Parts: sequence; structure tokens; C-alpha cells
Amino acid sequence: MKVTRRALLERWWLLPVAGTFGAFGYMGWYATRVTFGKRSAAAPAFEAGAAQKIAALSDLNTDWAEVNFRYAGRPCTLLRMPAEVAGGLTVGGQHYAAFSRVCTHLGCTVNLVRDEEVLAFAFNYRPPQGQGHPQLGCRCHFSVFDPMQAGAAVFGKANAPLPRVRLERRGPDLYATGIEPAP
Ligand code: FES
Repeated sequence: MKVTRRALLERWWLLPVAGTFGAFGYMGWYATRVTFGKRSAAAPAFEAGAAQKIAALSDLNTDWAEVNFRYAGRPCTLLRMPAEVAGGLTVGGQHYAAFSRVCTHLGCTVNLVRDEEVLAFAFNYRPPQGQGHPQLGCRCHFSVFDPMQAGAAVFGKANAPLPRVRLERRGPDLYATGIEPAP
């Protein structure tokens, strides 16, 4: 069948219609992926690394005390936690966990956001009732990771949890001795 120039011109409107359907299809797929595709942190799978002193236990005097450090070339954070965290460490009844600060979306650096109102206003995220503790937030595209859930991505474009750092106590100090691979 011969397609004439006139027949093509009469169907020009198909292009924006197809484009609109395509855009809505993509948005639907993306929204589904970031809403239902979040992965919780599995059993820790640390890759051994050099032992590196991060902090003295006495540096972390209160829950949510934080020490930032670099390990295996990545910015990381050590937190004193109010409860035990999978992949963390408990010493003398105190709980600790450490995470890579490299966002699992596109690699920006996450920071601890202590203020629930900042989280709600800047990140558009309000934790469920009873989970109003500090979260690790990425300011590039506003993903939020929950340290109490072993670094799981709980909001935003990131789906994979933050890699955890293996902690060891050596005398009065905490050491990093391994890290999970980047997703
Ligand atoms: S790089 Fe962190 S949310 Fe995009």
C-alpha cells in the first residue's frame, strides 16, 4: 500500500498522542519502581578490609552521637543507636552501626537529619508514628535511609539500602574491618 504525503500529514496528531502515552507510561513505571521496589537490608555480607580505628567508645556518649570517617575510599558514618541494628555491634549494652554515606541512587553523600520537621519540609517525608528518629537523607533527590532498619531506603528514588561497615571493638576503641559492596 502506498502511503502518500497527504495521508501522513493527516495523521500528524498521532505523534503527540503517542508521546503523551509514552510519558505517562514511563512515569507510572517509575512511580511503581520507587514505591514498591525498595529492598530491606539482608543479612550482612561484608567484604573484609583493613582494620581502621574510627573512634573511641568514649567519643559516642549519647544515642545518635555521630562520627564521620572514610573507609575503603568511601565516606561513612558511625552512629550510636538506641537499639540493636542488624549488622551493627553491641558493646556493654550500647549499640552501634556504621554505614557508607554514598547514596545508592546516584552517589551523592547522605547526611544525618536529626530534625523531624526538616525531614518533613525539605524531604517531604514524615516517618510512620513511633519511628520519629534521625534519618540519613540525601539532598540531591531527597532519598531517605533509616539507620534503625539497617540503612534501608524508606523514601525517594533510591531503592537499595546503604552498605554497612563491619565494626569491631578493640580495647577502648571501635574499628572498621570490612564493608558491604556497593549495590
Ligand atoms: S543521589 Fe541520592 S537521591 Fe539521588
